[in-house]
Amino acid sequence: MNYAEFYKQSVEDPQTFWAKQAELIDWHQPYTQVLDYSNPPFARWFVDGQTNLCFNAVDRWVDKQGDQPALITVSTETNTEKVYSFRELQREVQRMAAVMQSLGVGKGDRVLIYMPMIAEAAFAMLACARIGAIHSVVFGGFASNSLATRITDARPTLIISVDAGSRGGKRVPYKPLLDAAIAMSPHKPQRVLLVDRGLVAMDWVAGRDVDYAAARGQNMEAHVPVTWLESNEASYILYTSGTTGHPKGVQRDVGGYAVALASSMQHIYCGRAGETYFSTSDIGWVVGHSYIVYGPLIAGMATIMYEGLPVAPDAGIWWSIVEKYKVTRMFTAPTAVRVLKKYPTEFMHQYDLSSLKTLYLAGEPLDETTSHWISSELGVPVIDNYWQTETGWPILTIAKGVEDLPTKLGSPGIPVYGYKIKILNETSGEICGANEKGVVVIEGPLPPGCMQTVYGDDSRFVKTYWNNFRTEQVYSTFDWGIRDADGYYFILGRTDDVINVAGHRLGTREIEESISSHGNVAEVAVVGVEDKLKGQVAVAFVILKNANPVATAEGKLAMEKEIMAVVDKHLGALARPARVHFVALLPKTRSGKLLRRSLQAICEGRDPGELTTIEDPASLDQIRAVLQG
Ligand code: PRX
Repeated sequence: MNYAEFYKQSVEDPQTFWAKQAELIDWHQPYTQVLDYSNPPFARWFVDGQTNLCFNAVDRWVDKQGDQPALITVSTETNTEKVYSFRELQREVQRMAAVMQSLGVGKGDRVLIYMPMIAEAAFAMLACARIGAIHSVVFGGFASNSLATRITDARPTLIISVDAGSRGGKRVPYKPLLDAAIAMSPHKPQRVLLVDRGLVAMDWVAGRDVDYAAARGQNMEAHVPVTWLESNEASYILYTSGTTGHPKGVQRDVGGYAVALASSMQHIYCGRAGETYFSTSDIGWVVGHSYIVYGPLIAGMATIMYEGLPVAPDAGIWWSIVEKYKVTRMFTAPTAVRVLKKYPTEFMHQYDLSSLKTLYLAGEPLDETTSHWISSELGVPVIDNYWQTETGWPILTIAKGVEDLPTKLGSPGIPVYGYKIKILNETSGEICGANEKGVVVIEGPLPPGCMQTVYGDDSRFVKTYWNNFRTEQVYSTFDWGIRDADGYYFILGRTDDVINVAGHRLGTREIEESISSHGNVAEVAVVGVEDKLKGQVAVAFVILKNANPVATAEGKLAMEKEIMAVVDKHLGALARPARVHFVALLPKTRSGKLLRRSLQAICEGRDPGELTTIEDPASLDQIRAVLQG
């Protein structure tokens, strides 16, 4: 079947199409209905079917290839490396699951995982999946406030964390941030399970904190059977930023997700059981969930978890991993490639990379220079794929496993099977013509694997994603895009207040809220500004209550540092604005709405656009002046 036919069946006869894909995973009990879309936009896939993500990722491979590598952890921060076979992984996951059960975790309970890229983090995710607990992984780079909002929303029974992570050889303590977050949140988890890596000393809270090594020691022979879950029960929550300052808990199911991952591993990533997959993302992001932990393992592949910088001990580290573990499929972000491009190519060419068949890039726009460079240096195809935390797997790409269609530079490709995509005019809701810019939307039902709802808030799911056009109820991606005459799509950035820094998704509203907490800040606007290396960086414009401290250049610098430190403390260094400018006015409409797009345009040296509604045009001159000064 060519791709056009494959795609056509997926959208015209989803029942038959997805029933076929569902054969790629193991079911404990067959489903009675492929799709229930009786309550749009809520889609229920594989109704009544019983399965388990951990069973599909681990147990089902133990008999077939139990001694083959499953999880490979490499840390250039602690100089450790370990290979777990499927059998060993199954044992470790059961130990973790037994410890979790002994701490009172049962089906449906939330477990918050705040951990760096270490094996125990994967054990914890898989152990949750095994016993039907719902994990909520929080990216290790986030600080106390980010963590506290997630604790408050998810109300975890248990939090699993560590003494510290490490970045560029510098220890990054996790425990003090976690304790601060728990103190801030009205929800208090009963227990905190800690993996003590011996990196920094920890203050243990008696009666609450549990040492994982000791607890594991008591569960070495644990046998924890898989808890079979109805396909539509929740597997995890992953928080992501949007238009408000409150991150949304993207909730995913079990069966649909397993099928979508198994299917994408075959048709998009072309992975085969027994091969090795290397995704350089982090378990704190959706790519880590789908294509470090679950996807490759469900496909019977070994997966690599790498802790460390891409350039330490030198810029050859990733390529040395590719050579050593004979990686066939690699997944990274354009920013990482741009970083590596600054180093001599000998770092790459000193290794035998003949195992590598394809490089997949996602998370941010892929520019032509980066794409050309890496593709010609590696001598393998580079496949761009566009998707979101909400969808869990690609929306646009070239599914080479179905048909080797040509790629187009600057375009992630064409709609992935299962997704009915359109570009709509932002205001009229009319379908855009070829090459006409509009909002990328998806017609319901969303295919299997996509978000079920916003955790604990069905109405927010509908209101946020499905109610953006008067004309019809469609899912908004909040991305601008165009479709060319050949049906290839191009993504042109977000329509909302989300920015993308080095492939990391951040909400400018969260950064603004953090900056506003500084005692001398009256008003603040944060926008994403184009950056050659990171794609975008956050830039803040601040109106101070008392501007005296910034009367001098030194004063400005000191205040800028102070504000950056506030963001570091609340959200983590990742969200720190690259620049903080002090102004007396911000561009607003007469009704008081901040003109973000104009502000961003000026920062990028573009025309600020239609300004008939602006309250005070002098505000723009002032912005231009501070940018020049
Ligand atoms: O703006 C799009 C951008 O990243 C957003 C989603 O980020 P996140 O939820 O972190 O999920 C990343 C999953 C890979 C999108 O709304 N984005 C993602 N991939 C691409 C992209 N922009 C352009 N090209 C891409 N390939």
